[in-house]
Amino acid sequence: MFEVVKYRCFFFHLSAFLHYFQAMILLLNHLFIVISCSLFCTAVKRDAPNLRIIGGQETTIIEAPYIASLQRRRGSLAVHICGAVIITRRYLLTAGHCVTDISDELKQGNKEYILLSAKKYIISTGSKYTERGLITRVKRFFVHESYDPTELFYDFGAIALVKNLEFDIETQPAKLPHGNITETSALLNNYSNHRTICKAYGWGVSTARTYSGLKVVDLLMVTADACQESLTKKDLGMINSKIQFCTLEETGKKDACQGDSGGPLSCNGVVWGLVSWGEGCARPGNPAVFARMDVAKNWLEQDVYNIPLQSTSSAQYDIPDEKIIYILILRACFILRRTYYLLK
Ligand SMILES: *[C@@H]1O[C@H](CO)[C@@H](O)[C@H](O)[C@H]1NC(C)=O
Ligand SMILES: *[C@@H]1O[C@H](CO)[C@@H](O)[C@H](O)[C@H]1NC(C)=O
Repeated sequence: MFEVVKYRCFFFHLSAFLHYFQAMILLLNHLFIVISCSLFCTAVKRDAPNLRIIGGQETTIIEAPYIASLQRRRGSLAVHICGAVIITRRYLLTAGHCVTDISDELKQGNKEYILLSAKKYIISTGSKYTERGLITRVKRFFVHESYDPTELFYDFGAIALVKNLEFDIETQPAKLPHGNITETSALLNNYSNHRTICKAYGWGVSTARTYSGLKVVDLLMVTADACQESLTKKDLGMINSKIQFCTLEETGKKDACQGDSGGPLSCNGVVWGLVSWGEGCARPGNPAVFARMDVAKNWLEQDVYNIPLQSTSSAQYDIPDEKIIYILILRACFILRRTYYLLK
């Protein structure tokens, strides 16, 4: 009699132990999922810019119908990451650093950067609000072959869409500098010498969930020498006048910022620059650096247009990140439920 009870007791303990053991394994599994999810979430957060046009005022899309917002899809949401400029129905230009990623874990081989995967990105056009524009999916990204992510030289990126844009009063291609490089360089020199007033357009990104519209700010062009002088004084790096030019706001009350990257700088009605970089935002005496649109235009016409848009990579068959997250959440729920029943 005693022995039977003992026997049963032993069995009970063993099965309870096994259950607890299993539960522990499941809990660890769950913990692993939580940790990997939070790692993934921080990896995603990193690329979110948090700066914007300083000191400008709100404007309408009709004033700059060639501006577009490059956004990254996250489930049903999309987050503005950069500005872009409509060139044709199918192509846009933006900054090279808007279409590439330099985070360490993504580096492949000797390359200092990788091109972003187009399928996660969309373009929004025809609205002063980034959340209300017409959405078109991105087919492919391109970056200039001489793009230097450290110095931000050749900061030229191009975007091909999956289908053509419809042009109307709120969506138009930009007017670009015309003439060969000798001519456009001469004109740009003249503009810089005369401190021509240009307009930078952008949405930037504020950390709060505000529905702020497109902004514009007046910026004064400056000669390459004066720009380099103020950069050198503060040890902020180099510019190459063959591919870049600057604006300089001595008072430091106005500027284009990181969230405006890839957006247009329009001078006398022609888009001459793409917002590239600046040190800090609207710090007195810090120039803003722009990638030259005349050079970008030549690159687009001579190189990018010749690259066929048909899919080339096997990356097409990757599971989208959103799905992986859903699967992880489903698994976590399933595991939690099982753990709960086992412990009960
Ligand atoms: C640029 O165009 C001008 C005028 O059309 C011409 O005189 C000049 O030779 C051209 N320069 C180059 C480098 O093609
Ligand atoms: C240079 O710029 C000034 C002011 O914008 C203009 O009046 C002049 O005609 C320009 N010269 C050339 C050669 O483009």
